[in-house]
Amino acid sequence: MKELLLLLLVVTEASSRSHSSWCKRGCDCRGDLKFTICSRAHFTQMPGRVPPNTELLDLSDNRISVIPERSFSNNRKLRFLLLQNNNISVVENAGFSQMEFLQKLDLSWNRISALSEGFSVGLALLRELQLAHNRLTGLDSRSFLHLDGLQRLNLSSNSIRTIQVRSFSSMSSLRQLHLQDNQLRSLRSGIFSTLRSLELLNLAGNQIADIEVAVFKPLTSMTLLDLANNQMSTIDFKTFLSIHTYSTHVLLEDNPWQCDCDLQRVFWKLRSIQRLFLDDYYNLTCEEPAVLRDYRLTDVDTELCLAETVTVLVISLTVVVTLLAAMLMGERKRKKEKRRKHWTQQGELSDESDY
Ligand SMILES: *[C@@H]1O[C@H](CO)[C@@H](O)[C@H](O)[C@H]1NC(C)=O
Ligand SMILES: *[C@@H]1O[C@H](CO)[C@@H](O)[C@H](O)[C@H]1NC(C)=O
Ligand SMILES: *[C@@H]1O[C@H](CO)[C@@H](O)[C@H](O)[C@H]1NC(C)=O
Repeated sequence: MKELLLLLLVVTEASSRSHSSWCKRGCDCRGDLKFTICSRAHFTQMPGRVPPNTELLDLSDNRISVIPERSFSNNRKLRFLLLQNNNISVVENAGFSQMEFLQKLDLSWNRISALSEGFSVGLALLRELQLAHNRLTGLDSRSFLHLDGLQRLNLSSNSIRTIQVRSFSSMSSLRQLHLQDNQLRSLRSGIFSTLRSLELLNLAGNQIADIEVAVFKPLTSMTLLDLANNQMSTIDFKTFLSIHTYSTHVLLEDNPWQCDCDLQRVFWKLRSIQRLFLDDYYNLTCEEPAVLRDYRLTDVDTELCLAETVTVLVISLTVVVTLLAAMLMGERKRKKEKRRKHWTQQGELSDESDY
C-alpha cells in the first residue's frame, strides 16, 4: 500500500515536472497541473499561457486591468477562476466565453463600473459570481443575460442606485442575492419577479425608504429578508402580507422608525402573521417624534395609541356634551314657548270675559 502511494506521488511529480514549461514564472502549478496558483505575481495583464488542464486558476492580488475577449479559450476545463483584488475595469465582450465548466468566478475588489451584454456570454453553468466591492451603479436587463444556472450572486459594497425590471430575469435558480451596502432608495414592483428559488435577499445598508407593495410577492422560497440599516420610517402592512412563503425571517433593525399609533398597529398586525418572524422586533428603536428618540418600540408601543384613544374620548365627550346641551336648550325653549302660548290664550280668554 505504502509503495503504491509512493509510486503515485513520483508519477504525479514527474508529470508535473514534464509540463513545467507550461507553468509561467510567478505561478505555482500543482496536482498534475490542475491547480495553477498565480496569486501576488505582480501581473498587469492576463498571463499568456496557462496549462490547458487547469481546473483552478488563482490570479488574485495582481494588477490586471483588462479581461480581453476570449481570454480563456485555451482553458476550457476551468472550474474555478479567482480574479479578486486586481485593477479590472474592463471586461471585453465575451471575455469569459467558452467556459462551459466554470462554476465559480470571483471578481470582487476590482473597479468594474458596468457590465456589458457580452459579459455573461458562455457562463451558463456558473453557480457563484462574486462582484462585491466594485463600482457598479446600476443593473439592467443586459447585465446578467446568460447566467441561467447561477445560485449565488454577491453584489455587496457597490454603488448600485437603480435596478431595472428584468435585471435578474435569467436567474430562476438563484438562491442568494447579496445587495447590501449599496445606494438603493426604493424597490419597484417587478425587479425580483423571476426569482422564485431565491432563499436569501440581503438589502441591508442601503437607503431604502420606499417599497412598492408587490415587490416581494414573487419570492415564494424566501426564508430571510434583511432590510436592516435603511431609511424606513413607516411600513405598509400589505407589502409584507403579500409574502407568500412557508416561513420568512425579516430583519428591520436600524431604521428611523416614526413611532406613532399607525406604526404600532402595523407591527401588531405583522406579528400576528404566522409565517413571518420579526427576529429583531425587540431591537427596533424610534427616531421620531423627538421625545421618543432612541426608545425601543416595544417599550413605548402600549402608549402610542393611548394618546390617540384619549383624544378620541375627549372629542366624543365634547360632542356628547354639546348634543346634550343643545337638546336641553331645545327642551327649555319648547317649554317656554308652550307657557307663553298658554298665558296668551288665558289672556285672550279674560279679555273676552271683560265684555
Ligand atoms: C489601474 O488601472 C488604471 C486604468 O484603468 C490605471 O490608470 C492605474 O494606473 C492602474 N493601477 C494600478 C495600481 O495598476
Ligand atoms: C460577499 O462578498 C464579500 C466581500 O468580498 C464577502 O466578505 C462576503 O463573504 C461575500 N458573501 C457571500 C455570501 O459570498
Ligand atoms: C439585538 O441587539 C443586540 C445588541 O445590539 C444584539 O446582540 C442582538 O443580536 C440583536 N438581536 C437581533 C435578533 O438582531
